Amino acid sequence: MEQINFVDLKKQFKELENEIVNSVSGVLESGQYILGPLVEEIEDKLSLYANVNNVVTVSSGTDALFVSLHALGIGPGSKVYIPSFTYTATAEVIALVGAEPVFVDVTSRSFNISCKDLEEKIEKYRPTKDMPSAIIAVDLFGLPAKYDRLNDIANRYNLSLISDAAQSFGASIGNKKVGKLAPITTTSFYPTKPLSCCGDGGAIFTDNDDLAQILRSVRTHGISDNPYENIRIGTNARFDAIQAAILLKKLTIFDQELEKRKNVAAIYNQELDQIVETPMAIDGVYSAWAHYTIKTKKRDKLKMYLSDANIPSMIYYPKPMHDQIAYKKYSNGDNLKISTGLCQEVLSLPMHPYLSEEQVIYITEKIKKFLD
Ligand SMILES: Cc1ncc(COP(=O)(O)O)c(C=O)c1O
Repeated sequence: MEQINFVDLKKQFKELENEIVNSVSGVLESGQYILGPLVEEIEDKLSLYANVNNVVTVSSGTDALFVSLHALGIGPGSKVYIPSFTYTATAEVIALVGAEPVFVDVTSRSFNISCKDLEEKIEKYRPTKDMPSAIIAVDLFGLPAKYDRLNDIANRYNLSLISDAAQSFGASIGNKKVGKLAPITTTSFYPTKPLSCCGDGGAIFTDNDDLAQILRSVRTHGISDNPYENIRIGTNARFDAIQAAILLKKLTIFDQELEKRKNVAAIYNQELDQIVETPMAIDGVYSAWAHYTIKTKKRDKLKMYLSDANIPSMIYYPKPMHDQIAYKKYSNGDNLKISTGLCQEVLSLPMHPYLSEEQVIYITEKIKKFLD
């Protein structure tokens, strides 16, 4: 049996090698390396894919969040409610714009923000009236958060809602794809994400045309239509043409890859159902399966056992954000016990479209043997 990789970018490259090499070479010959026609083409294709009016590509998923907060005027005095069980980028951009992150617990089954705790935290730490504030929901491991309730809460408390879909591009709720589930959605094209570049990249999705114009301006130093007229403070978060060329090729097989991820998850589910806690399934909610994450109290020993059998696994995440040194000062001493507990139990297993059934079965057999 072939070696099992946690993700397998080399195999994906082999699938598309000629197309990718030719299109990158086309960019090199064109002399247009930053923004330009290929960046516009991928923005159009992504906007068609997600059925959203505007897509603004940027240089990473982190910049997608940063540019969004900045464009919304979130800054000193603003509060931004986020789940504590997430990747650091969700929290750091809030501090970078000078706003205050308010950590909210997640639900133990979905790993996503708890709407109940969110309302409690909004009531406890009221958003400042004269400063715009926001919620950033994260679609952890590829599963969309509860956007029907989140949109309702955001409207009731007059908060902007951003969906951090770094891990969930390609997922959907019913017939609405990620990108359309919240007024602003950000994603990442980091190499291990479901749709990825061969480098850094990201995008922002919104149906709001006025906001899209501001996002484009912030992405390039706050310019107006005139590149030497700066009408607001911006940054450099531009997307480059080589990554756009690669993304255009990868998008052609993206739906097939999502289907393959779904099949891998189905085998894991079937084999591990009664053995460990498998990821939550919700009727009508389709995950992008960025990660397949189980829960077990014997997590650390299982991880070591799998490693001895040459099966890689990862702990996403070993520490909740409110316990990280950089963010402790924002934690208000709140007891976010589900986020804290999950960090002791979660284990992400190999997940990518090119895992064979034989490999997945081999992994599950090892897990069963260990837990027996
Ligand atoms: C939930 C989440 N948000 C934001 C990001 C940041 O994306 P990037 O690495 O492209 O900056 C990541 C990346 O792992 C992520 O997982």
